[in-house]
Amino acid sequence: MTRHFLRDDDLSPSELLEVLDLADRMKAAPFDAQPLRGPRTVALVFDRPTLRTQVSFAAGIAELGGNPMTVDGGLAAMGSREGVEDVARILGRQAAAIVWRTAHQGDVVTMAAYAGVPVLNALTDDFHPCQLLADLQTVREHKGRLAGVRVAFVGDGACNMGNSWALAGASAGMHVVVGAPDGYSPDAHVVARAREIAEDTGGSVELTTDAVEAVKGADVVVTDSWVSMGREEEAQERLRVFPPYGVTDDLLAHAAPDAVVMHCLPAYRGKEIAEEVIEGPQSVVWDEAENRRHAQKAVLAWLLERS
Ligand code: NVA
Repeated sequence: MTRHFLRDDDLSPSELLEVLDLADRMKAAPFDAQPLRGPRTVALVFDRPTLRTQVSFAAGIAELGGNPMTVDGGLAAMGSREGVEDVARILGRQAAAIVWRTAHQGDVVTMAAYAGVPVLNALTDDFHPCQLLADLQTVREHKGRLAGVRVAFVGDGACNMGNSWALAGASAGMHVVVGAPDGYSPDAHVVARAREIAEDTGGSVELTTDAVEAVKGADVVVTDSWVSMGREEEAQERLRVFPPYGVTDDLLAHAAPDAVVMHCLPAYRGKEIAEEVIEGPQSVVWDEAENRRHAQKAVLAWLLERS
């Protein structure tokens, strides 16, 4: 059966740890594993802006012995020129795996149903699971463990990163508190699913509208842009409601003294994160950005091996 990585809970809690362990090994010895030797091609399809995702996948696929083939989603005009079902079968005949950044989660599900090769979600409106693998690898590097670690996600909890933190944090047995304004909490179905997972892993997921309460005692403080891709028209309203959730030195003072600060980037300094915080000693954002390569190599190799 072909395995895909479309949302964070596509990996069980034990599979998640296997992938993270593999990511650590790949970070230590980047050229040892060559599952794409040939080179086999991996299609990287982008319908939306990208920097980290494109370069980390391209570099990682090359390190795995493969050939990264970037496909411009705009040129391919998926959905208007030809349907996702047809594109999936075309790409699946050329590539060993497909990595896709697009808006709708339903479209990556369709791609996976028709491709015949592993499909990886490189960000949709609903989830950003590849980022979470890198984030969990980074937390483990700095905190030595995942289970029991307290995470505060402050800001737009309704975005892909809020949903993915709820699911992946629960899978890792972490205590995730989302501090977001009314109406900006993670999706209710996702929270319910995350809580179900947390019952088995010993983690938890809580929601609050109080940023200080969310951050209190946190080992990890996470934020993300207040205006995600596709939400540009809501920018004015968002910039009105989100300022109390900005990660400033004052807010960070409520976290554990050795808390680390994370942001998937791109960051808007002076909005969701203060300049002195992102550039400060508690920031691990550059480790996160680097770990995209190692974590994505691991999940790609893992999926290929099992498919
Ligand atoms: N939530 C952000 C993540 C960017 C990597 C967005 O969707 O734009």
